[in-house]
Amino acid sequence: MPSIAQTLSLGAAALSLLATGASAQSWKTIPPIEIYGQHFFYSNNGSQYYMKGVAYQQDYSGGGSTGGAKTKRADTKVTYVDPLADINSCKRDVPYMKQIFTNVIRVYAIDPTQNHDECMELLASNDIYVVADMAAPDQSINSNDPTWNAGLYQRYTGVIDALAKYNNVIGFFAGNEVVESNNQTESAAFVKAAVRDTKGYIKARGYRSSLGVGYATADVPVRSQLAAYFACEPDSTGNATSIDFWGYNVYSWCGHSSMQKSSYDERVKFFKDYPVPVFFAEYGCIEGIDGGPTHRPFEEVAALYGDNMTEVFSGGIAYEWFMAERNYGLVKVDGNNVSPYPDFTSLQQQLKTVSPTITARSAYTPSNKAPACPTNDASWAPKASPLPPAVNPKFCDCEMSNFGCTIKSDDATKYGDIFGFICGADKNLCDGIAHNASTGTYGALGGCSPKVQLAWVANAYYEKNGKSASACDFKGLAATQAPSADDSCSSLIAAAGTAGTGAVPSPTDAQGGSAATSSKNASPGGVGPDYFNVGKILFGTYVIGAVVSALGIFIL
Ligand SMILES: *[C@@H]1O[C@H](CO)[C@@H](O)[C@H](O)[C@H]1NC(C)=O
Ligand SMILES: *[C@@H]1O[C@H](CO)[C@@H](O)[C@H](O)[C@H]1NC(C)=O
Ligand SMILES: *[C@@H]1O[C@H](CO)[C@@H](O)[C@H](O)[C@H]1NC(C)=O
Ligand SMILES: *[C@@H]1O[C@H](CO)[C@@H](O)[C@H](O)[C@H]1NC(C)=O
Ligand SMILES: *[C@@H]1O[C@H](CO)[C@@H](O)[C@H](O)[C@H]1NC(C)=O
Repeated sequence: MPSIAQTLSLGAAALSLLATGASAQSWKTIPPIEIYGQHFFYSNNGSQYYMKGVAYQQDYSGGGSTGGAKTKRADTKVTYVDPLADINSCKRDVPYMKQIFTNVIRVYAIDPTQNHDECMELLASNDIYVVADMAAPDQSINSNDPTWNAGLYQRYTGVIDALAKYNNVIGFFAGNEVVESNNQTESAAFVKAAVRDTKGYIKARGYRSSLGVGYATADVPVRSQLAAYFACEPDSTGNATSIDFWGYNVYSWCGHSSMQKSSYDERVKFFKDYPVPVFFAEYGCIEGIDGGPTHRPFEEVAALYGDNMTEVFSGGIAYEWFMAERNYGLVKVDGNNVSPYPDFTSLQQQLKTVSPTITARSAYTPSNKAPACPTNDASWAPKASPLPPAVNPKFCDCEMSNFGCTIKSDDATKYGDIFGFICGADKNLCDGIAHNASTGTYGALGGCSPKVQLAWVANAYYEKNGKSASACDFKGLAATQAPSADDSCSSLIAAAGTAGTGAVPSPTDAQGGSAATSSKNASPGGVGPDYFNVGKILFGTYVIGAVVSALGIFIL
């Protein structure tokens, strides 16, 4: 049950700020947080910064408050609430956040098309920073059928564009718990490609260099390899492909526990030599709590901000603000009312007493080096190098307009058979769309949409068959067209080559630069209705071979 007393005791500092409307800091003037070695620092005075955070994202399925700007993508059934788009909910919640000493929130899905100025201003004036996931519920790297593609690139860079100007943004997560089990390690390659391309994008757009890109993981069996993989720097690329911080979703301290029982001590040992900051990107176990989930004692807080951990960990983000089905909520939100649960008070009491040792940047010399990349064995499939190639939406558009035979239909449920037929008939025609992280085989079009990829193989088939119109039909899904790629496309198309196996420059290079500018507009060949949902079926189909059955359909 929420405690009534709590709802009345607003934090004094927050209350006065709100009451007077005075802003101590705005998002323009708040000092950015910088990463240096294994720690975060305030850029104004070089004082170490520890995260005292809360996960702030209303449950994707609804629930909780009625406020918030609901975004319903026209092309999917998924809805999510952008937690930073509605000033009324921010005004409602921030004073309570201040009561639990919040200095950072983690948001899981913002809507790049919304305006976030007011919430970001309120957060900045309360010294609250933001770490934002770039994925969305319907747009993330699929654990079981991973790609890093033009649609995701547009989503991720859209989030960066929307938040980069705010000084109180620390950085972004390129993925959250993408690798969840032993058979999903290949997906790490695509997340790391996303890290590389989003870091490259931040640089190319001239955004603040202190904006970091990280990865958040649960405590999975392949944790050691994962951590090494994301931080390693193969091929003398420096840190261009490696993460800037490591988020750890940790639920191993349940109720009354200890450093040993919770394995926190092992984690400290493990990350001691890690080259970038590590923090709990989620914490707050609800298992086996006396009195139920809302009665967490949060005794791990003393350990997390104590000397045994602070040399290695930079604090953490409690999971989570809103009460939802999963039962992790710290508060119950009803319209404009916020009612804290008992564990809100426990968290408050615990955080009140901690005073982590502050290191001055000037007194700190990073000594940790990038780890070696993990070796490939039965438990670790993806090659550290090469990574999936840079996604370049403009290149995909260029190819689409360059084909003599293209795909007209947006019905991606029909694509599988054609992939199966063509790739079965001549596997080489499909080299251009390969994206296999365990062999390290990537075609130049592996990051284009299924429609562009299918057009690529259909066009290759058409060309192989003497450009006969009958070789470009595929039950009416394909049709010939007059190629119309303009001059700005020629170098990109040439780079990919006729086999589609060449290296296409990333859109952050001068050559593809205009792609970044236009990235938020749907690409002509691009993001069809079924892009995200059907991708899984598509590539599976030809791999397992719907070849024989397809043969019957497409006889010329
Ligand atoms: C450094 O600046 C931050 C942000 O203004 C402030 O919260 C912190 O107390 C300062 N630290 C020191 C040691 O002055
Ligand atoms: C991993 O295993 C699970 C359970 O057997 C399965 O559903 C999933 O598709 C597998 N993923 C991959 C990438 O093989
Ligand atoms: C990445 O490398 C660049 C160049 O060496 C350096 O300036 C930057 O601080 C590094 N970033 C991190 C997070 O270490
Ligand atoms: C910190 O580590 C030392 C040495 O391992 C141990 O004796 C001590 O109990 C630890 N403190 C806490 C709070 O766990
Ligand atoms: C990648 O290629 C290997 C070797 O050909 C194959 O065993 C594996 O299934 C492929 N992975 C995917 C995701 O297609």
